[in-house]
Amino acid sequence: MNNEPYDAIVLGAGAAGLFCAALAGQRGRRVLLIDHAPEVGRKILISGGGRCNFTNIHTAPERYLSANPHFAKSALSRYTPRDFLALVERYDIAWHEKTLGQLFCDGSARQVVAMLLEECEQGGVTIALGHPASAIDHADGRFTVQAGPVRAHAPALVMATGGPSIPKLGATGFAYDLARRFGLKVVEPRPALVPLTLAGEDLLFRELSGVSAEVVAHCHKAAFREAALFTHRGLSGPAILQISSYWKRGDTVAIDFLPDHAAGWLLERKRTHPRATLRRVLGDALPERLASVLADRIGLAGELGASTDKALHAASERLARWPFVPNGSEGFAKAEVTSGGISTAELSSKTMEAKKVPGLYAIGEAVDVTGWLGGYNFQWAWASAHAAAQAI
Ligand code: FDA
Repeated sequence: MNNEPYDAIVLGAGAAGLFCAALAGQRGRRVLLIDHAPEVGRKILISGGGRCNFTNIHTAPERYLSANPHFAKSALSRYTPRDFLALVERYDIAWHEKTLGQLFCDGSARQVVAMLLEECEQGGVTIALGHPASAIDHADGRFTVQAGPVRAHAPALVMATGGPSIPKLGATGFAYDLARRFGLKVVEPRPALVPLTLAGEDLLFRELSGVSAEVVAHCHKAAFREAALFTHRGLSGPAILQISSYWKRGDTVAIDFLPDHAAGWLLERKRTHPRATLRRVLGDALPERLASVLADRIGLAGELGASTDKALHAASERLARWPFVPNGSEGFAKAEVTSGGISTAELSSKTMEAKKVPGLYAIGEAVDVTGWLGGYNFQWAWASAHAAAQAI
């Protein structure tokens, strides 16, 4: 493998790198795929609780965050969830739609990794594991990479080393350092799809640790209706993970605890159940412990019939927009993905090639494109990998 010429060197054998290497190999390119981990696709293996939520049939550019919301359109439209599903079916991998368009393996995420490895095999891809890419040089239109004992060169280098979320799985900010070395801008990386932490007054909600409810979580213009979970540190669950990608320090996350209740519902209850307490009517719709804490905090102790309409109106407004001001998140250690990354302004949306460094490509999570929870991030990995593979 020493000092061998390749057509492309792909750094990072995660979802994006494996797929890009396989497709480019199948187009006749000689491809070297390098990863510092001892095995490929570690995040795929643990994804979706071990069943890999490999795509989402509702994929659309609006479901991705990026400094340029248009950037992902081209790649996503040229490699769609149906395309990846067709591949999955070709390998007889049984799948199901869980909810909200999320497609999972019936069996194990290992099947997806095995499929990608087989695709690499068919493309004649050389895989070098267990050594980080150390020295990387660029001269005369040629990239030279050293990874442990392996030294290779190629006219194309693909940065597919992902983002720094979950470092214990081997995740690094390597792609950003490399991009900066080549003069490319990086949009500040932040933990995304991550639990939020609470402090001060909100810490009182800690007593609800383990309680969950279907809510609508709002932040700025984003809103997600899914489950929220109280934890001993703050808030988690799909609704919170989703909204965390839109949240910045200092922002308020407003929770609608009763998304199916119309604005005047408490006044209505006052008329129909004047002897009931707020705690009791909340207990009809919410877990008992949550109903109790919310009622205590609103402070309407007596029967509804004894409360003024104004007080009831204020209570229902608060329940529909309960403000939490998280003091932070659980950080990269717990973040499912990283938002930010290599600036899309530096890349061609068609090929993922750096505009000012011909032959240098960036794909997957390393790029400033971050999907919603639910298979959107793998779909971006597949689509961006496909775009680059057509060009190298
Ligand atoms: P990815 O992180 O997969 O791969 C990067 C590779 O680069 C890794 O193999 C790493 O070892 C390697 N690397 C890093 N630094 C290196 C260096 N210096 N030298 C050499 N190699 C290096 N998404 C989704 O759509 N559905 C889901 O079900 C889930 N579930 C999920 C669960 C959990 C727990 C996490 C943490 C994440 C998810 N995700 C997800 C997100 C998804 O895993 C993520 O978006 C993709 O894996 C990104 O693919 P990439 O190939 O870009 O990076």
